[in-house]
Amino acid sequence: MRAAAIAIALSLPAFAHEGRRFEAQDLLTEWVWDPLIVLPIVVAALFYARGARRASGLERWEQVCFWLGWITLVIGLLSPLHPMGEALFSAHMAQHELLMVIAAPLLILGRPLVAFLWAVPDHWRRASGVASRAAGGAWSMISAPLAAFLIHFVVIWAWHIPRAYQASVTNPFIHALQHISFLGSALLFWWSVLRQHQTPKHYGPGLFYIFATAAHTSVLGALLAFTTTPWYPVYAETVEAWGLSPIEDQQLGGFIMWIPPAFVYLAAFLWIFMIWMQGSSARRVAQGTALAALVLLTSSCNRSLVTASNVVSGADPQKGKQYMAAYGCGSCHTIPGVSGATGTVGPPLTKIAVRTYLAGRITNTPENMVRWIHNPKSVDDQTAMPVTGITEQEAREVVRYLYTLK
Ligand code: HEC
Repeated sequence: MRAAAIAIALSLPAFAHEGRRFEAQDLLTEWVWDPLIVLPIVVAALFYARGARRASGLERWEQVCFWLGWITLVIGLLSPLHPMGEALFSAHMAQHELLMVIAAPLLILGRPLVAFLWAVPDHWRRASGVASRAAGGAWSMISAPLAAFLIHFVVIWAWHIPRAYQASVTNPFIHALQHISFLGSALLFWWSVLRQHQTPKHYGPGLFYIFATAAHTSVLGALLAFTTTPWYPVYAETVEAWGLSPIEDQQLGGFIMWIPPAFVYLAAFLWIFMIWMQGSSARRVAQGTALAALVLLTSSCNRSLVTASNVVSGADPQKGKQYMAAYGCGSCHTIPGVSGATGTVGPPLTKIAVRTYLAGRITNTPENMVRWIHNPKSVDDQTAMPVTGITEQEAREVVRYLYTLK
C-alpha cells in the first residue's frame, strides 16, 4: 500500500531539485544542456544515421532498436530525471536502470560499431581496421563474456559503496564518471552476451552470465529494499521535500533495481534460449561448420589434383574456375561456367561483376572481393561463409574470372 502510494507520488508531475520540489512547468526547463553530455549524444546520432544509410547490412529492426536505445539514453541523461536523481535516491536508481538495462542492450542490438565504421570516410575505415587489429588482443580480453561480466559486476557493486555513491551525488565530475562507467560496462556486458559470439558454443555461457547478472543485481536491490538504515545519508536533506523518509526512498530505489530489470534479463535469456533451441541460426551455423569441414577436406585433395593438372597442362587461362572447383565454392554457390556449381547455401554469383556490394557489407571492388574470398571472416566474423584456405594469389585468379560474369 505504502509502496503504491510512493509510486504514485513519483509519477506526479512535481519534481525536486537540490532540495526544492518543483512543479509541472519545470519539466520543460529542467533539462540538462551541458555540452559535454549533449554533444557526444548528438554526434552518436549523426554518425549512426549516416552509417545506417551507407551500410546496407543493418536490418530495419536493428536500426529501430538503436533509436529506441538512443531515446532512452536522452531521457536517462538529459531529462529532468537527472536533477531528480540528485535529490532522490530512487530517481537516481531509475536513471541508472534506464541506462544499463534498457538503453545499453537496445543500442547493442542496433550494431552501432558497424554503422559508425560506415559513417567515416573510407580510408579512415581501413585505418581503423589496422588499429582494431592492433588493439584486438586487449579488446578480446575484456570483451570475453567472463571478463565483461566481472567488469560490470565490480562497477555496479563498487559504486554502491556509500562513500563512492555519495561522492557521485555531490561532485559533478564523479557523477559523470559514474554514469560513463555504468553505461560503458553495461554496453560491454550486453555486447558480450547478445552480439559477440552468436554461435552454439557461446549460447550456454551467454545464458549463464545473464542469469548471474540478474541474480547479483537483484541481491543488491533486495539489500537496499530490506535494510532498515539508510545507506546514503546525503539524500536526507533533499528527500524530505518529497514527503518520503530516507528509508522509504531507499526501499523504493531497491525495488526499482530489483524488479523491472528482472523482466529485461528474463526476456534476454528467453530470446537467446529460443534462438539456441529452435536452432534456426544454431542449426545453420552447425551446418555451415560441417560443410566447411567437408569443403576443406575435399579441397585439400582437389588442390593437389589442380596443381598437378596445372603442372601437366601449363598455365590455364581459366585458372580461377579450377580454383573454385578445387575449393568447393560450388557446394554453396551457383556459379555460371563452373560445372557442378549449383549450391544454394550462399547467394548465386551470377552477374557478380555488376553488383554494388559484396555480401551486403563491402563495396564491390576487385581488392575487396579478393579480401572477402581469401578471408571472409576478416570482413564479418559472423558470416556463414567459411575461410576455405584459398591463398590470396588464387583468390586473385578467382576474382579475375568472377569479374567476367556481367
Ligand atoms: C559453406 C558455404 C560456402 C562456401 C564453401 C563458399 N561460400 Fe561464398 N558465401 C557463402 C555465404 C553464406 C555467403 C553470404 C555471406 C554473407 O552475406 O555473410 C557468401 C558470399 C560470397 C560472395 C559475395 C556474394 C554476394 O552476393 O555479394 C562471394 C563473391 C563468394 N561468397 C565467393 C566464394 C568463393 C569464390 C568461394 C570458394 C573459394 C566461396 N564463396 C565458398 C557461403 C559459402
